[in-house]
Amino acid sequence: MDTTTNDSGSAFPVDRPVESLIRDHNLVRTLVETYRNSDSDAVKINAAEQILMLMETHSLLEESVFYPAVREIDPTLIGHFEQEHQKTDQILVELKRMSLNDPQALPLFEQLIELHLQHVEEEENQFFPRLEQAGIDMMPIGLQMQAFEANMVHVQAQATQQGAR
Ligand SMILES: [Fe+2]
Ligand SMILES: [Fe+2]
Repeated sequence: MDTTTNDSGSAFPVDRPVESLIRDHNLVRTLVETYRNSDSDAVKINAAEQILMLMETHSLLEESVFYPAVREIDPTLIGHFEQEHQKTDQILVELKRMSLNDPQALPLFEQLIELHLQHVEEEENQFFPRLEQAGIDMMPIGLQMQAFEANMVHVQAQATQQGAR
């Protein structure tokens, strides 16, 4: 049975991996809306936690598979975006050491989402269209990304199980 693609949007679109990245971007955008529009601290913290988790897995997927694969084909496409990741990764590490209830955490978190939103905007408006123009065969990259994501989900599930013990 071929479960690599389907129309529901839930499986990984191996032949269009950029779509899965945009799906992550949109999920973060929705959560940022929730974060910004809520007056409830609990809702804000919950949205922030989800954003941080998503950002972490999304960045890891791009840094471990997507960017290196593109770099192999055309290194000029990628440098700027990798630099931006270094900046946001640093803030992510700092935030992981703090509690989101820490008064210093939320300003830092807001700086992070500002940077991240600008970054994903640039990826979508500059980087992804250039990939398309370059006519790169995305299928091999998509298959690697699918495998990486499946493994990440597996590792996270194991960690959650261990945490629940
Ligand atoms: Fe990125
Ligand atoms: Fe991205």
